[in-house]
Amino acid sequence: MQAELDALAAADRLRLCPPLAGPSRVRPDPQSPGLLSFCSNDYLAMATHPALAAAAAATAAEEGFGASASRLVAGDLPAHRALEAALAAFTGRPAALVFPSGYQANQGVLSALAGPGDLIVSDAANHASLIDGCRLSRAEVRVYPHVDVDVARTALTSGTHRRRFLVTESLFSMAGDIAPLPRLAATAADRDAVLVVDEAHALGVLGPGGRGACAAAGVVPDVLIGTLGKALGAAGGFAAGPQVLRAFLINRARTFIYTTGIAPPVAAAARASLELVAGPEGDARRTRLFALVERLAGALGEKVPPGPIFPVLVGSDARALLVSSALRARGIFVPAIRPPTVPEGSARLRITLSSAHEPADIDALAVALREVAR
Ligand SMILES: Cc1ncc(COP(=O)(O)O)c(C=O)c1O
Repeated sequence: MQAELDALAAADRLRLCPPLAGPSRVRPDPQSPGLLSFCSNDYLAMATHPALAAAAAATAAEEGFGASASRLVAGDLPAHRALEAALAAFTGRPAALVFPSGYQANQGVLSALAGPGDLIVSDAANHASLIDGCRLSRAEVRVYPHVDVDVARTALTSGTHRRRFLVTESLFSMAGDIAPLPRLAATAADRDAVLVVDEAHALGVLGPGGRGACAAAGVVPDVLIGTLGKALGAAGGFAAGPQVLRAFLINRARTFIYTTGIAPPVAAAARASLELVAGPEGDARRTRLFALVERLAGALGEKVPPGPIFPVLVGSDARALLVSSALRARGIFVPAIRPPTVPEGSARLRITLSSAHEPADIDALAVALREVAR
């Protein structure tokens, strides 16, 4: 292990968890109040919303803290059921099933739905949890170049397979762009493929009432996957779709079956968040967030991205680390994102904005980025 860690360090690939303190996600170090963070996924600043803490505390008192068993055995509590009903209503789908994380939702869905003899066609920039779900399924996997619908269409056409699946993120976590959802949906329909869309970074942020990029594009995927740990500020993940999907996943998704149900207070916090995010408070936070997105794009002279994710491509791992530490020296916290999270040679800084940032924070970031680029 040590030899491998040493090799990672020598290759500028060693990873560490930077220790932060609470509660603010944009000012992460009470010891250095000037330090600004631009890398959490708490896009709407819900992680520190008092309504989440209150809902969690009330549910801990009413239902206990841990679920204590798999949902299938003795761990299915009112908070789970209420959250799933709220998620179904939010996504406009008949049913939803909550997993302990978005990672487990992706792994569980793909490995349950697809199997040997099936074909999964997957975007090259898809998240590790989707990649692992593809691998676990033992289906044939064809990876198409990022957002290239024509190649995806061709990949779905050749060969004989029992079933076909087209899998994509909506708002891409590392590239910050949006999948061509209407074209992908048309392609899936045309090729009789099941469309699976991971809305991890879009839910809460994009679309009417934060309902996601699919809702914004008028696309209804066969399976919509989301996380409760990013814009919703809680933890957990879910899959939404027809009732039969929920019943099937309860019986076949191993990451749901063989794990303790999410803690009821966490489910209650997610539901409280969902209610706020879908309402006027969510609208106000999204308006504020997108004003900041425009401000940063303007300051950098860049096109306004579709969401709050600004990838700054740097290239080599060593340079990404250097740029990150130069920013840190200027009071800006943005860790370097290196392979295998992103493709070889495309190490980057992944800058994300939150509605809790101030316009002056964005200006400070832009100044620091310009200085470091020089
Ligand atoms: C696109 C995408 N899907 C799924 C996940 C996993 O979600 P979770 O953090 O809830 O496990 C992440 C990030 O963590 C992600 O970026």
